[in-house]
Amino acid sequence: NTTERPIGIDDLSFSTTHYRLDQDVLASRLGVDAAKLHTGLGQDAFSVPATDEDIVTMAATAAQPIIARHGPERIRTILFATETGVDQSKAAGLYVHGLLGLPATCRVVELKQACYSATAALQFATALIARDPGQQVLVLASDIAKYQLGSEGEPTQGAAAAAMLVTADPAVLRIDPCSGVYSEDISDFWRPNYRTEAVVDGKLSIDAYKRATREAFADYQRRGGRYLDQFAAFCYHQPFTKMAYKAHRHLLEHAGTPGPDGDSRTTTDASDSATDAADLDAALAATTHYNRAIGNSYTASAYLALASLLDHRKDLADQPIAVISYGSGAVAEFFGGTVVPGYRDHLRTTANAHAIARRQPIDYQHYQRLHHESDLTDDADRKIEQQTTAPYRLAAIADHQRIYEATI
Ligand code: HMG
Repeated sequence: NTTERPIGIDDLSFSTTHYRLDQDVLASRLGVDAAKLHTGLGQDAFSVPATDEDIVTMAATAAQPIIARHGPERIRTILFATETGVDQSKAAGLYVHGLLGLPATCRVVELKQACYSATAALQFATALIARDPGQQVLVLASDIAKYQLGSEGEPTQGAAAAAMLVTADPAVLRIDPCSGVYSEDISDFWRPNYRTEAVVDGKLSIDAYKRATREAFADYQRRGGRYLDQFAAFCYHQPFTKMAYKAHRHLLEHAGTPGPDGDSRTTTDASDSATDAADLDAALAATTHYNRAIGNSYTASAYLALASLLDHRKDLADQPIAVISYGSGAVAEFFGGTVVPGYRDHLRTTANAHAIARRQPIDYQHYQRLHHESDLTDDADRKIEQQTTAPYRLAAIADHQRIYEATI
């Protein structure tokens, strides 16, 4: 049975790590002007996982309040999006399934395509619910962004998980059926199986992101999507928050008004608003608060942007907003949704602020130790200490098995 009922995000929660490194600490270590990191990249700090935290503990921590609020009974599918997988075979979502006591009558799979796959998960979830509006899908997006010490990418690290309950008649965001996609085989950022850190061509990746955004939007418009000026805000994937500004300026400059054939790919002159900083801020600033403090969280990033927007703007009821997802390699998707009136009653604003504020600041030496510790590919060499105060932790790795425990 198909349904005409709206489908979308009914609840959205996120978690991050126990530690954080302030960009000022990194700036003085690297000998760069702190303004480059704060203003040039738009980042104030990044989250650093404790030795007993990983994508599973973050995802379980993000999902737990959703299960507490809605119960587990109607969840028929868990889609776990990540590019920081802990196993080549077993889906990380199965550990979360166990930790949260979710029903056995629930399919669990993992999805990968760099930072993009949470958006694929969200779209797959809407299709499942269109078939059976009585069920719920739990979408988890959890990642740790890690680059080599001393590399250009180092200030753009971070870690977080987003959890979304996708349902019919959602309380927060109705997702439009129309979306635009773009894929291209390009090596702008990738991580071979034998490496713990990504390889990246930073400048190429920025150009690829901008092009993919433009092309995904062109596809969106050809398929009958809204015009840019109809959206109240734009939630971009934010590897660093300044990237949202670069991409949005590019989109405003290159997305023309659709012609009679519906093709909007013609380049127009930069519109006035393209260069107007106040307009850019109106469209983007509210989406950047969490990513500015957390850093890149790959699959979770666009949904942390959404959480930030909803928590910081009171005027979004019935307003269309856009989500723009980019994953290197590369796939991009542009879709819209309408914020549901009454959405503010369903937000987690206090918990979100707490997740960011409770992180312990660490010095460079401590961060360096944690960075090297998580480089160890042979689990037998890893020293897992009791550090996190999150409700779930990685307790041990024994006989190649990861053993998780609840601390509450
Ligand atoms: P960089 O070379 O260190 O930085 O690399 P830069 O020299 O380009 O400077 C950055 C900005 O700071 C520039 O601003 C400077 O002008 C400014 P812009 O010109 O670009 O507007 N600046 C200053 N501003 C104020 N005061 C100062 C000052 N000095 C300079 N004193 C880069 C930056 C992002 C390339 C690097 O950090 C990197 O390689 N990061 C990793 C790759 C990345 O994040 N790419 C983003 C697009 S790809 C993507 O989003 C996918 C991804 O999430 C992965 C996935 O999909 O899985 C990464």
